[in-house]
Amino acid sequence: MSVAKKDYKRITTQSLIEMKHNGERISMLTAYDFTMAKMVDTAGVDVILVGDSASNVMAGHETTLPITLDQMIYHASSVVRAVGRALVVVDLPFGSYQSDPKEALRSAIRVMKESGAHALKLEGGIEIKESIKRILNAGVPVMGHLGLTPQSIYKFGTYTVRAKEEAEAQKLMEDAQLLEKLGCFAIVLEKIPAKLAEQVAKSVSIPIIGIGAGGGVDGQVLVIHDMLGMNNEFSPRFLRRYLNLWDDMIKALGNYHEDVKSGNFPSEKEQY
Ligand code: KIV
Repeated sequence: MSVAKKDYKRITTQSLIEMKHNGERISMLTAYDFTMAKMVDTAGVDVILVGDSASNVMAGHETTLPITLDQMIYHASSVVRAVGRALVVVDLPFGSYQSDPKEALRSAIRVMKESGAHALKLEGGIEIKESIKRILNAGVPVMGHLGLTPQSIYKFGTYTVRAKEEAEAQKLMEDAQLLEKLGCFAIVLEKIPAKLAEQVAKSVSIPIIGIGAGGGVDGQVLVIHDMLGMNNEFSPRFLRRYLNLWDDMIKALGNYHEDVKSGNFPSEKEQY
């Protein structure tokens, strides 16, 4: 079913809620630097997530745990400088909000002041309720994140689909309703059964943005390096590759290397 799209000059948290109510799907992608963010914004994507997946794809760590608040602020401020339309949401990194609500607020204020971002994303439900409340009370919009929450990977043990069992599904549903009640403007659901994700989306009035959560939700998010095919080692079922940049870039880089070695670059026309 196609829905008439409203022309938003600038996306706000309110625009996203309006999109859900109008049946317009929300597009979201990650970006971590100026050039990539400029391209994502120019393409018209609604939300840019400065994800702590920067820890994996930008810094080469195995998990999202090592990235620091200072590093997230560096990535976020580069993205904000590039963006004219999209809403910029930044992940609070592991260790910057779990210990107590006052520390969570201090971290939130640092990101908002030093990067110019528009909103924050935090992983978890009832366990971090007080931190979310404190950040929201300071006027900072919060996006929730439930299901597979990579900052808890050592608790889960694997990156497999979450909430397949009734008890975990029930808790996820309760957490989503709690996040809405607290005042979160949207929730990311990562790697859970499509049927459950659709039930959650129907049970709350704020947008549900899925990654590996099926098509019955209000929007989709992917990590940009994955959807552009920049890494060929990560192929989960939910990923659609729109390009195969790994192959194209290796070919281009190899051609450059050969041209330099052979003296084919630079040509007469490429010099002064
Ligand atoms: O850090 C990230 O990229 C994310 C997305 C997977 C939603 O949280």
